[in-house]
Amino acid sequence: MTTVTRRSLLIGGVALATAATAGAGRAKLDNPFTLGVASGDPSSDGMVLWTRLAPTPLNEDGRGGMPDRVVPVHWELAEDERFRRVVRRGVQLARPETAHSVHVETSGLRPGREYFYRFKVQDHLSPVGRTRTTPEPWVLGQALTMCFASCSHYGEGYFTAYRRLAEDHPDVVLHLGDYQYEYAAKAADVRTVVGPETRTLADYRLRHAQYKTDEDLQLAHSVAPWVVVWDDHETENNWADEVPEQPDPAFLDRRAAAFRAYYENMPLRRGARPNGIDMQLYRRVQWGGLVNFHMLDTRQYRDDQACGDGWKTCTDAGLPTRTITGAAQEAWLLDGFRRSRSRWDVLGQQVFFAERDRKDGPEKELSMDSWDGYLASRDRVTRGWVDAKVRNAVVLTGDVHAAYAADIKADWDDPASRTVGTELVCTSVTSGGDGNDTADEVQLRNNPHIKLHSRRRGYVRTKFTAGELRADFRALPYVRTPGAEATTLKSFVVEDRNPELNAV
Ligand SMILES: [Fe+2]
Repeated sequence: MTTVTRRSLLIGGVALATAATAGAGRAKLDNPFTLGVASGDPSSDGMVLWTRLAPTPLNEDGRGGMPDRVVPVHWELAEDERFRRVVRRGVQLARPETAHSVHVETSGLRPGREYFYRFKVQDHLSPVGRTRTTPEPWVLGQALTMCFASCSHYGEGYFTAYRRLAEDHPDVVLHLGDYQYEYAAKAADVRTVVGPETRTLADYRLRHAQYKTDEDLQLAHSVAPWVVVWDDHETENNWADEVPEQPDPAFLDRRAAAFRAYYENMPLRRGARPNGIDMQLYRRVQWGGLVNFHMLDTRQYRDDQACGDGWKTCTDAGLPTRTITGAAQEAWLLDGFRRSRSRWDVLGQQVFFAERDRKDGPEKELSMDSWDGYLASRDRVTRGWVDAKVRNAVVLTGDVHAAYAADIKADWDDPASRTVGTELVCTSVTSGGDGNDTADEVQLRNNPHIKLHSRRRGYVRTKFTAGELRADFRALPYVRTPGAEATTLKSFVVEDRNPELNAV
């Protein structure tokens, strides 16, 4: 049977679906490992291992060519790449209700170690993934290489940045959102996005599947555990809690579908399994005594953007009741600051944290979608880490399709005020196309705390040690054709107990 025939059979109708189910135990699948493998959310004794079965990933029903039945998936985890020293193995059932995704949570592993994993269905073996456990909570002496990225639009370019990131052999990768985009294909795209603008569960599943077929992305997932948070485009542009960008009576159904497909397609633990329109994405990942990653969700609980969104001069942005995190997440975050004994406390989150005023003169024009549109929220969080005497606070950001580095100031109106934290902003992987070297002079002039601004595509490579954080801003000359090399545009060092950025 050819693939084409099988595909048409599976989307063909009730009679044929029944025939497929009748053959359940024996029916042979074509290679179901077209979406690669991934791991995520490491702890000192385990991590989650992920794959999703999809012999024909671009089927428009979003089911990836899988039959409507449960399929057993064998998995194994070894200390070596050749699987001579297998330390865990098991079987998990891939179910049609979760798009035949598999989330295996391992435990009881040794801390601070590299592991290898793979899956098997019938006689099909998956690619091998590399992953690792974190060091034990008191370990400070092991350096951590962490790369972070955001904003990968499939149509607007090739995911070369993910390949270059993989070649840096990071210990862990953070993804800060806009992992995928909801839009239908555009005329200017260099690769064809399949399917309509995503609204239904089938649409979102198909979109995730197409992204996961990308070889550069698969490579990046296979070299290290990822810790992911979404931004807006995994659901819809600039959504805020229950408010869509444009009025839409079906938005909550759309949000539920997007959350469900996101969970199915990401290496997330069971705690993140969605329940209707709710999904608990904020969480911590502790990297030994070195780094405490506070992963935030600034979409699901935020107040609607003030003054109708966009760049505005807007007094409402300063209302003390406004929140971008929601009360529960804010309390959790502030509590985390108070309890933390880590050398570095890192906020992995979506939108620009430092002030960005893009208007000359005393009046400010700020982005209502970023923390600038939620001033009281930002003050509470900043004051929270200052009051808790957090030793080194670092904010990581995606969203803006440009690289930035910024000092976080105690008082944005006084450039001489104390620097209380550091913000590093990765550019996009592809969103916006090739990028360019023009900097926004108005922004740089009005925001002296901003030390770097670049519209090149790429990612950020960081290295944390007990004594310093080094950040290399990696940039690609183009993404609309494949194969660009990455170079370091600029590097900064932040020393322990001194949040100021030092260009090196
Ligand atoms: Fe984006």
